[in-house]
Formats: sequence, structure tokens, C-alpha cells
Amino acid sequence: MIEGGVRLKGEVTLSGAKNAVLPILAATLLTDEPCVIKGVPNLRDTNTMLKILRALGKNAELNKGIVTALPNKHISYIADYKLVSTMRASFCVLGPLLGKLKKAKVSLPGGCVIGIRPVDLHLKGFKALGAKINIESGYVIAKAPRLKGNHMYLGGTYGSSVLATDNVMMAATLAQGVTVIESAACEPEVVDLAEFLIKMGAKIKGHGTPIIEIEGVKYLHGAGHTIIPDRIEAGTLMVAALITKGDILIKNVSFQHLGALIDKLEEAGAWISRTDGSVHIRFKKRLKPINLTTLPYPGFPTDMQAQMMSLMTVTPGISVITEKIYPDRFMHVAELNRMGAHIQREGPHAIVEGIRGLSGAPVMASDLRASACLVLAGLVARGKTEVSRIYHLERGYENLEAKLEALGAKIWREKE
Ligand code: UD1
Repeated sequence: MIEGGVRLKGEVTLSGAKNAVLPILAATLLTDEPCVIKGVPNLRDTNTMLKILRALGKNAELNKGIVTALPNKHISYIADYKLVSTMRASFCVLGPLLGKLKKAKVSLPGGCVIGIRPVDLHLKGFKALGAKINIESGYVIAKAPRLKGNHMYLGGTYGSSVLATDNVMMAATLAQGVTVIESAACEPEVVDLAEFLIKMGAKIKGHGTPIIEIEGVKYLHGAGHTIIPDRIEAGTLMVAALITKGDILIKNVSFQHLGALIDKLEEAGAWISRTDGSVHIRFKKRLKPINLTTLPYPGFPTDMQAQMMSLMTVTPGISVITEKIYPDRFMHVAELNRMGAHIQREGPHAIVEGIRGLSGAPVMASDLRASACLVLAGLVARGKTEVSRIYHLERGYENLEAKLEALGAKIWREKE
């Protein structure tokens, strides 16, 4: 429940990045030695990944932001439908299982509300490493008595794939010879995974660029690592500051990961200042409409599209938002319109006619980032907004409600 209209003010600290921690936890399957991962956000998705690891035989627990993954007992090569179907990112256990055990049986994750989301690029990469792939009863069965490094191109219709790059990179660390991934994803979370793998003894070059080279090694050892800050949480809080005409200091930020987002917020008229490890954002003057297109990193992140749309609904003028990663990721449009927004969808475009104010309403979250966009809209709407199905929010935001409340928001939780 949100009572809108309060200007947010104060300081807030980011949590570790969801999209970095999930593959990094999966990567602990590559070693029999202990790993210690710090800065781990306590999210529904983190806990789902830990459940999958435990179901596979890895003893891993989260305690006060630290995951300790102990030596493997007996690692199973089968990741069950019941767990994998609850979270797409669980498909990234396939790469480490294949690398370590040379066989894996992992349930196909299926589509989700933001699109069909195929896994063809993951499978193309595994096949290039010499794995035989069969699809049986909804499972991918991958076998490779010997994984062999290879040169491959992993670009798809919508550009590079984050989890396909992660998955194939993890398998290739234990392959024989050199693997080159062309059109690799450049997202900071892929770089964080590569850094962790390097600490485990992997030989990786070029991460953060579209060409990653991995020289296979015989084994990987245990390692410690601290997860990078969540750039999508940073963006969501920046929008929270602007939409409420507020003034907030966000701590534990990797400024260099926010280029496209900061560019668009400044174009809209935000005042943004970088201090040591922090970003200060303040509403300065009436915002201007903007046009934006989501693209793979370093382009504007699709995971910030819905939140930017909330901001544009109350920014007078016409803004055009083009979704180039998930052309159907517009479930939030109808919900924002229920709050009085004027948004028209035309294929992969949303045309937003900014209005003076939204009005609070009962709305329903359809997915993780759409739920964040509805919370943001609620912060500025007149009256009360009730966002239901907030379990979506809990998948990827650590204590968002408490963080917003500490900044002055009138936000509380009621049992559904
Ligand atoms: C990751 C992020 C997610 C983010 C997305 C895009 C994690 C845990 N999740 O998801 O938050 O929204 O990147 O930045 O890191 N595709 C194919 N074939 C494939 C794989 C993907 O066609 O085999 C397509 C997808 O449908 C989509 C595009 O490629 O259109 C990018 O998807 P991808 O980068 O793979 O997303 P994820 O890694 O699943």
C-alpha cells in the first residue's frame, strides 16, 4: 500500500546485483572446494538458486549477506522441473554441471510473461563445445565425454544473451583448449561472473567486450568474491527520487555501470552528481519528455524500461519508449493506464503522453520490473495505491519497501 505525494529525501545503500549473484552461485558447482560470496542480497531468486544448489547436493547457505558454499558431497546432474520452472535463471546451472560432470539434465525453463525467451543460443554454445543435446520430456539432456574449446558466434535476433554467455563461459572453463565467444554479452554482471571464475583459477580474457576468450583448465578451486552493486536497483531509486521531486544520495554505486541511464535522466532534466562511490540525484526543474530504446549493455537496460515509463507518465509532453530486447514487455501499460496514465502501445513502442498527475488505484504486478514501476507510480499518485502480487518485487529487490520508507515514503504491507 502506498500513499502518494511525499518527496523522498535522504540516503540509501544499494544491495548486491541479483543478475550477478545468480550465475555466480551456480558457478560454485564447478569446484569441490569451499567458496565464500559476500554482498549477497536476500532475495526470493537468491533463495531459489540456493535451493537448487542444495537439491543438486551442494551445501550452500545465506547468512547476513554471505553465502558459504561448502565442498560438494555428491553432485547430481539433474535439475528438476519444479525448481527450474520457478526461475529462468536456474537454467544457468547447466553450464557448470556440464563442465564439471560432463553431463547434465536440466528442465527447460519455459516462457514467461515478458516473452517467449528461448534458450537456443545456450544450446548452440554447448553443441559447439562438443556436447550432444537432446530434448526429452521437457528436459535438456546434455552429454559430452570430452568438452573441447571452439570458436562460436552467440548473437541472436535480439543481440547478445546474458545467461547464454554466462552458461557457455562456465562450461568452457573446464573444456580442453581455447573457446572464443563472439557476440558475447558485455553486461557488468557477466564481467563479475568472469572475475569470480578467474579467482577460481579460470583463464578468461576479453570479458566486458563482445569477444571473450576462455582457455580451459583441468580444475577450478574455491574462491571468495564480493558481488557488484545492483545497477537496476540504483536506477529504480533514481527514478523514485525524480518522480517524487526529491533529493537522495545513493551509496555503494558503480557509477560506470549507469552510463545510458544517467544520460537519459540528465536529458530529462535531472541534477546528478557523482561522489566517491555514491550518486546524488535531485529534482531540479520540470522534467522534459524523452525517447529511449532498450538495447544490450552499454545501451539502455530493458530492466529499467518499465520504471522509466512511470516517470514519463507524469512528465508533460510525448515520450516514446522502444523495447528492442523483449518486444512484448509491456504488461505494465494497462496497469499504469488504470492509474490515469495516457499510454498507447504500438508494437514494440509505447507512446506516453505525460499528464499532470496519476491517481492511486488497485493495480496488479505482472513481473519483477513491472511491479517496481507500479510502486514508483504509487509514490507520486494522488491517494492510495494498492499493488498486489508483490512477490514479484521480492524476487529482485532487497527490502525496497523499508528503503523507500526510510526515505520518507508512506508505504506499508498488508496481507493479500
Ligand atoms: C538477463 C537478465 C534479465 C534481463 C535480460 C536482458 C539475469 C538473471 N537476467 O536475462 O534481468 O532482462 O538479461 O538484459 O541475468 N534470446 C534468444 N535465445 C537465447 C537466449 C536469449 O533468442 O538462447 C533472446 C531473448 O528472448 C531476449 C534476448 O535474447 O530477446 C536477450 O535475452 P537474454 O540476454 O538471454 O536474457 P536473460 O539472460 O534470460
